[in-house]
Amino acid sequence: MSDYVLVLENVRKVYKTGEVETHALRGVNLAVRRGEFIAIMGPSGSGKTTLLNMIGSLDVPTSGRVLIDGVDISKLKPKEMARLRNQKIGFVFQQFNLISRLTVYENIELPLIPRGLPRKERRVLVERALLRAGGDKSWFPKRPTQLSGGQQQRVAIARAVVTEPPILLADEPTGNLDRASAAKVLSTFLSLNKSGQTIVMVTHDPEVANCAQRILIIRDGVIVKEMAPVFSRCIVNTVGKAT
Ligand SMILES: Nc1ncnc2c1ncn2[C@@H]1O[C@H](COP(=O)(O)OP(=O)(O)O)[C@@H](O)[C@H]1O
Ligand SMILES: [Mg+2]
Repeated sequence: MSDYVLVLENVRKVYKTGEVETHALRGVNLAVRRGEFIAIMGPSGSGKTTLLNMIGSLDVPTSGRVLIDGVDISKLKPKEMARLRNQKIGFVFQQFNLISRLTVYENIELPLIPRGLPRKERRVLVERALLRAGGDKSWFPKRPTQLSGGQQQRVAIARAVVTEPPILLADEPTGNLDRASAAKVLSTFLSLNKSGQTIVMVTHDPEVANCAQRILIIRDGVIVKEMAPVFSRCIVNTVGKAT
């Protein structure tokens, strides 16, 4: 197995809206090792979400290659791509994207349904995921909206890791949270990462980016530089202190 769980080679993405072409990615190269925790920063409109969508195989590049666990996703049929996404990728969004008419338990269980596991096995995995995400079993029968934003995001993280995917993607996971809740989300990411979870996270917040092992800066659709994070400035360490 390759050291790299994720490789992007000269990835370009052009959106066409009528006559207008938007070059959202202009040749991105990236190699992520198993177990790495990477933060991506950049101004609004620089291509961060587009990049995560390519990695998460929610969309395909206009040109270039994306290899997930050695598999070139551009070669896959839509059905195979959906399967790869279910097996290899966990996704966490800024808006949590939990389903409001389902309970917390059912939300976390959802990615397990296509796998045809018996109910008891699903229960074990759901409980383990919630625990790993720093959640509490008393949340299970509730609806997502009965929880705080920070709690909802931890439920979303549980849903993202319940299938134990090799890659966890997070798009501005703390964008809707206060600092205390943001710190809890990052402490969850750090503990997942400690047990081997690869994480690629987009953020605007330097205190959030400083929790990662590498910070990549994207501008106008290209990665322009890499910065070394300062862990003492990670929000887990700075929350409750003056900044
Ligand atoms: N589905 C789409 N159709 C057309 N243009 C898009 C689409 N998604 C994003 N874009 C454009 O691509 C560029 C990059 O967007 P995005 O990846 O969302 O940036 P970021 O997440 O860094 O704010 C922007 O100019 C945006 O307007
Ligand atoms: Mg975005």
